[in-house]
Amino acid sequence: MSRDPRYDVLFEPVQLGPVTARNRFFQVPHCNGMGHRDPTAHAFMRGVKAEGGWAVVCTEEVEIHHGNDFGGYVEGRIWDDADIPAHVRLVEKVHEHGSLAGIELVHAGMNAANLWARRPPFGPANLPTMGIDPVQARRMDARDIADMRRWHRQAVARSLHAGYDLVYVYAGHGLTTIQHFLSRRTNDRTDAYGGSLENRVRLLREILLETLEEVDGRAAVACRICVDELVGDAGLERAEIEEVLGHVGELPDLWDLMVGEWDFDSITSRFAGEGAQEEYIKGLKQLTTKPVVGVGRFTSPDTMVRMIRDGVLDMIGAARPSIADPFLPVKIEEGRFEDIRECIGCNICVTGDSLAVPIRCTQNPSMGEEWRRGWHPERIRPRTTDAKVLIVGAGPAGLEAAMSLGRRGYDVVLAEATEVVGGRAAREARLPGLAAWMRVVDYRKGQLARLRNVEVALGSSLTAEEILSYDFDHVALATGSRWRADGVGRRHTRPLDLEAAEILTPDDLLTGTRPAGERVVLFDDDHYYLGGVLAELLAVEGHDVTIVTPEPRISEWTVNTMEQHRIQRRLLELGVDALTSHALVGAAGGSARVACAYTDREHELPCDSLVLVTARLPQDALAAGLEAALDGRDGPLVRLVGDAWSPGTIAAAVWDGHRYAEELDEPTSNDDVPPFRREIIALARLDG
Ligand SMILES: Cc1cc2nc3c(=O)[nH]c(=O)nc-3n(C[C@H](O)[C@H](O)[C@H](O)COP(=O)(O)O)c2cc1C
Ligand code: SF4
Repeated sequence: MSRDPRYDVLFEPVQLGPVTARNRFFQVPHCNGMGHRDPTAHAFMRGVKAEGGWAVVCTEEVEIHHGNDFGGYVEGRIWDDADIPAHVRLVEKVHEHGSLAGIELVHAGMNAANLWARRPPFGPANLPTMGIDPVQARRMDARDIADMRRWHRQAVARSLHAGYDLVYVYAGHGLTTIQHFLSRRTNDRTDAYGGSLENRVRLLREILLETLEEVDGRAAVACRICVDELVGDAGLERAEIEEVLGHVGELPDLWDLMVGEWDFDSITSRFAGEGAQEEYIKGLKQLTTKPVVGVGRFTSPDTMVRMIRDGVLDMIGAARPSIADPFLPVKIEEGRFEDIRECIGCNICVTGDSLAVPIRCTQNPSMGEEWRRGWHPERIRPRTTDAKVLIVGAGPAGLEAAMSLGRRGYDVVLAEATEVVGGRAAREARLPGLAAWMRVVDYRKGQLARLRNVEVALGSSLTAEEILSYDFDHVALATGSRWRADGVGRRHTRPLDLEAAEILTPDDLLTGTRPAGERVVLFDDDHYYLGGVLAELLAVEGHDVTIVTPEPRISEWTVNTMEQHRIQRRLLELGVDALTSHALVGAAGGSARVACAYTDREHELPCDSLVLVTARLPQDALAAGLEAALDGRDGPLVRLVGDAWSPGTIAAAVWDGHRYAEELDEPTSNDDVPPFRREIIALARLDG
């Protein structure tokens, strides 16, 4: 297929100072939990983005100096020349596919507690570091400012040495010293770097000028800047940014505009749709002659075109859409819109950063596995045998396994007991704010429809005997899991004594059952999104809801997806009572008994209906049934996949379905050695 002329504008080259981007697709900086620790895995991941058509592919934030570190977070480093080879590898992978490689240099100042360096961070003012580490930043004096400027310049030189085509000056996300100087919120100085905007912009101007001087036409200089800190006149506001552009608008070769802190910039689909930053950014492009890139979880080619045509942006910036589908630009170029794997806005990708593990993505199971396991988002090895495969269950794992095996060329039957595909992903997508999650199903359903070697059999509830009566070589059981109704979970490992009038599980609510009574107590011992979103559903539907959790906050784990504060706020605004640091311990006669997580002191809550979001059990009975029916005879190779193997996130189920497809017919390993590649630290010489 060829490109629809409507989208031609997206494929126009853009001049970025001395370099030319071949189209308008720009992968903005994003961390990935690999960074300096897994440099080859990182390089390969960026290489795949370049292969997928992103004209500019950037690193994550890269620490410029050993004295200012993010501690356990695995970001990039360019502390000294020893870091250069890792960057060279990344640049080479990006250049292999004709893209430009960009590096985002960061001096995080008071945003980093320097737990590695063990020296006090510094910033414009004497203020505690951001976060809650017991660390304060020291007010920078003239010498500190000179030091920091020199370190930035040295990092620019090393970036050029590594071959980067674009170097960032970073003043965004509330994460950098340059922004801390710009903002009234953090800059209380009375010297030449504080007070008036002209003074607060001084450090940015100096660093931009020094970066331009250092690159000397050998690379483009980009500036990423926060255009509104979203704290009113207590911090940076749009009007000030307009003035900033008046001061330095013509200095960099590209402006990269973003809004708020990271949690707003990468807001989940539960709280904002595509293009959420447009209202803040519109009109700023007109204040500079330099190209402008911006973000907004752009997955729709029409929205992208509108951004260009309406003069909002010159380049389409993307982090998450490029993670979910590294081949997004190529697919638009080739008119393959139905092949686009749209980001669902869940922020599982972000958790790789906060948990310091390689990045993962709900939609793209190959993310972070490009080098480690040799997976590719668009290609998979052809089949090696004529084996026939039955997959039972068309939830996220079953759909992914069927699609990927179909692509390998295997004959596959995907049997689904109900009349629809999607399993839990389809059911959960009906919950408030989660509609975009249906993309997990829609993408795979669309792909399966075009695979002639995959048959989808709806309404097929198979028994073990029926399965064995067919001629399959492999059977994958992707039958999902069921929520428990007895209170067993993290807090209680034995069933509770529950005599509430009515006990409901998420499965009940997801299949349409509703509490009979008005007063609902929801016990969330799961801590991810589901407890909170079910409380929201029930509150919106008019129930009087109390959410009880042993953790100090509602949906505690969602701090990792950066939405916990929004979830808590939404529930409180809906009138949900939040009983945190408490666990359900029993229920009887119209009340639930709860105990303080610290003192064990108990009290009663009025309760007509109890909703338990605690733990799940794999639906694996068919595996035992098959084993019994075979009774020692040879038969198909049976595997449990996804939640049926071990209940987890949708991302984990998709990944496991994919792994099943990748590994089918592979020689089985006894699992005594790692099934993936890793980079081992080279031991230092002891004599040097
Ligand atoms: C996993 C992840 C890591 C990120 N890390 C960085 C980073 O290191 N530096 C940065 O400037 N922005 C970072 N961001 C923000 C993105 O560059 C981008 O501005 C934001 O995600 C909004 O764009 P999107 O909607 O296309 O994802 C990160 C975003 C994600 C999702
Ligand atoms: S993990 Fe979720 S938010 Fe992140 S890129 Fe993938 S689908 Fe999008």
